[in-house]
Amino acid sequence: MKARIKLDQDYVIGQVDDRIYGSFIEHLGRAVYGGIYEPGHPTADEKGYRQDVIQLIRDINVPIVRYPGGNFVSGYRWEDGIGPRENRPRRAELAWNSVETNEIGLNEFMEWCAKAGTSAMMAVNLGTRGPEEARNLVEYANFAGGTYYSDLRKAHGYAQPHDIKLWCLGNEMDGPWQMGGKTAVEYGRTALEAGKLMKLVDDSIELVACGSSGMGMPTFGHWESTVLDLAYDVTDYVSLHTYYGNRDGDMKNFLASAMDMDAFIQSVVSICDYTRAVKRGKKDIMLSFDEWNVWFHSNDADAKMEKWQVAPPLLEDAYDMADALVVGTMINSLLRNADRVKVACLAQLVNVIAPIMTKNGGDAWRQTIYWPYLQASRYGRGKSLRAVVESPKYDTKSFNDIPYLDVSSVYDEKDGYVTVFAVNRSLDETVETAIDLRSFGNVRLEQHSTLHHSALNAVNTCQKPDEVQPQNGPGGVVSGGLFTGHLPPASWNVLRFKI
Ligand code: AHR
Repeated sequence: MKARIKLDQDYVIGQVDDRIYGSFIEHLGRAVYGGIYEPGHPTADEKGYRQDVIQLIRDINVPIVRYPGGNFVSGYRWEDGIGPRENRPRRAELAWNSVETNEIGLNEFMEWCAKAGTSAMMAVNLGTRGPEEARNLVEYANFAGGTYYSDLRKAHGYAQPHDIKLWCLGNEMDGPWQMGGKTAVEYGRTALEAGKLMKLVDDSIELVACGSSGMGMPTFGHWESTVLDLAYDVTDYVSLHTYYGNRDGDMKNFLASAMDMDAFIQSVVSICDYTRAVKRGKKDIMLSFDEWNVWFHSNDADAKMEKWQVAPPLLEDAYDMADALVVGTMINSLLRNADRVKVACLAQLVNVIAPIMTKNGGDAWRQTIYWPYLQASRYGRGKSLRAVVESPKYDTKSFNDIPYLDVSSVYDEKDGYVTVFAVNRSLDETVETAIDLRSFGNVRLEQHSTLHHSALNAVNTCQKPDEVQPQNGPGGVVSGGLFTGHLPPASWNVLRFKI
């Protein structure tokens, strides 16, 4: 089949905020213990942080990491994780039915961030706790000194403030599973009051209010408008979360999942703009898509997991080639909405529904989804361009008019590149693709990278870590600013044009 893409340097959607390449580490399963931290591991540094994992993260260049949850944060006492380790309590952790040792807390996480070349996006507990504990945490983390909590931080050995700029006002507070879950009115009021105190302590911080934990929630839409109506003044971003899965094996439908993500983003943008209009507001509320991924492979195993273990192997999805394609289309969706999505976190980063897996005491390896994430982070910085795409389409039980070719494009003016990210959703047909780049003048194709495997269920494992990895693509011909080439069936493609 054939498709046509037109790009123009003047068709700018918006500047890509680097923070859309963020990720997430929760105190859940083996994300922290056995993931980023494993004293005694052959690659652990003097503090116990795994250097092999840090290297894989550094290769992606992850700008922010959300921490410490997730559902975990809604029952978390941040004070449990500071001060001498021998005094830290072991707690029954109710979000994931595990035992939390508190060996890692705020200060250790900030040390790890510096080593991993990233910064923290910190969440406060607005489930079982509230504005008071949230403001204390901001004071402990960000205040220079001369107050109780800032001096306590200094006494713990951290003279300099951590200066954390981005904060989440709780997590998924609409969810009935959430500890201390709330109605939209209860949450909107709490978010406003917590946010007010947090910004009084440090007026340089930005705040993310909880949107719905998914577009399928019965309160979706009403939740956002109520929360924003109440907490507009302190809110800079509203959160979105979504996970897709292929539980019934309908591959064509699964590969179209990001159609839902596009609709979700557009709906939340509309609600943000409605709120601004009725309030005669001066600021746009931006979007923080701070949990997104594929998540379903591990559901059955997790249901059988023995309770009250320390760092049990929870949510350890082994991602296959098909999942990498869906992740690629989700990245495309984030890029196509770069004018409003300013923060996004692939959930999560290590072991727990993650691009990076480890064995305790053993190797670390890249899952299939690592590759589109790394390539987008590496080549998808600059201006997101509105690609005009003519592609054959198909329908499934959940979606209509799904383009076989899913596309985003980024113009890096500084280094002189246009990059096209394209997923061919067809399971059996190559897409002969023409790209019109004439507005950029002379271009040459510097790289065509393809992620493709003959088996959509192929995975990377500790024994075979490179089963699914990018290869050189078939490339194509560029003449007079017009490219023609072939994108293999069921593939993720990165086409880098040098201007
Ligand atoms: O990322 C796993 C979990 O998914 C998070 O803890 C929660 O916020 C969401 O439901």
